[in-house]
Amino acid sequence: MSTQPATATTSPDEPLGISLSIDEEAKHSVIGEVPAEAVMDTYHLNVFYGDFHAVHDVNLQFGKNEITAMIGPSGCGKSTVLRCLNRMNDLIPGARVEGAINYHGQNIYAKGIDPIAVRQHIGMVFQKPNPFPKSIYDNIAYGPRVIGMKVDSMDDLVEGALRDAALWDEVKDKLKQSAFGLSGGQQQRLCIARTIATKPDVILMDEPCSALDPIATSKVEDLMMQLRKDYTIIVVTHNMQQAARVSDRTAFFTAKPDETTGNRTGLLVEFDLTKRLFSNPEDKRTEDYISGRFG
Ligand SMILES: Nc1ncnc2c1ncn2[C@@H]1O[C@H](COP(=O)(O)OP(=O)(O)OP(=O)(O)O)[C@@H](O)[C@H]1O
Ligand SMILES: [Mg+2]
Repeated sequence: MSTQPATATTSPDEPLGISLSIDEEAKHSVIGEVPAEAVMDTYHLNVFYGDFHAVHDVNLQFGKNEITAMIGPSGCGKSTVLRCLNRMNDLIPGARVEGAINYHGQNIYAKGIDPIAVRQHIGMVFQKPNPFPKSIYDNIAYGPRVIGMKVDSMDDLVEGALRDAALWDEVKDKLKQSAFGLSGGQQQRLCIARTIATKPDVILMDEPCSALDPIATSKVEDLMMQLRKDYTIIVVTHNMQQAARVSDRTAFFTAKPDETTGNRTGLLVEFDLTKRLFSNPEDKRTEDYISGRFG
């Protein structure tokens, strides 16, 4: 059966007025133990690029001060879901979201919500380190300046962000030098420092280590575990060992081909404590993926 685009209606029986035409098999996902305190959640999240239904009916909760990993084969919609979490997908022409994404109970897609303000609370670190063509110092100071953050001492803020990103000792003597002079791993930690400089609540990371060597990867993983004390982290990774090492909870997605068009729509298969999902998955598709039989 084909997956039809969702349509919004205003039925009082549906909390958000959402009426979905759902493929019953695709709808099925195993939801295990959910976080006691969720900072964010997705509610019947469906994402489209033009007519293409990229992500189907995802319901997820992201726990406070937890690391949630999103894993699954290429094209199953991990980056799409991640980008929706801070409205970065708004920037893609033709992208459309249905359902809701709640941040502390507020739908970030509700009328009147400013996406720029959303991104101040929910920051993002990208796959490829992307420092600005500026000095190390100015990379950190840029965000607070642009948003007009009240700061007693910019020097202290820059130092604090670099310390929090475990980079201070390596760069404290060359703050005025170009960020491009840093190694890839240092650049990625600089990008993390830049993200936390504006004091977000949630940090989204899309394969933050895929361009890094094992030593730089391990530094970023250590950093993620440090940051978890103060932030809620949601990370997309292709590296299952990484998901198993760093995350508290894991969401496994897959892509289901439409029988007529062949288009592959992403859906959530299983969401649970990482330990349980990796040791005792409920769904055969999860088991096949984590045991390397698929994907
Ligand atoms: N900007 C876009 N325009 C149109 N389609 C897109 C766009 N970005 C992603 N898609 C499509 O949406 C689907 C999900 O893509 P997405 O990048 O979210 O997958 P992913 O799970 O992150 O994959 P990967 O592991 O390869 O990064 C794919 O079919 C992809 O081709
Ligand atoms: Mg991706």
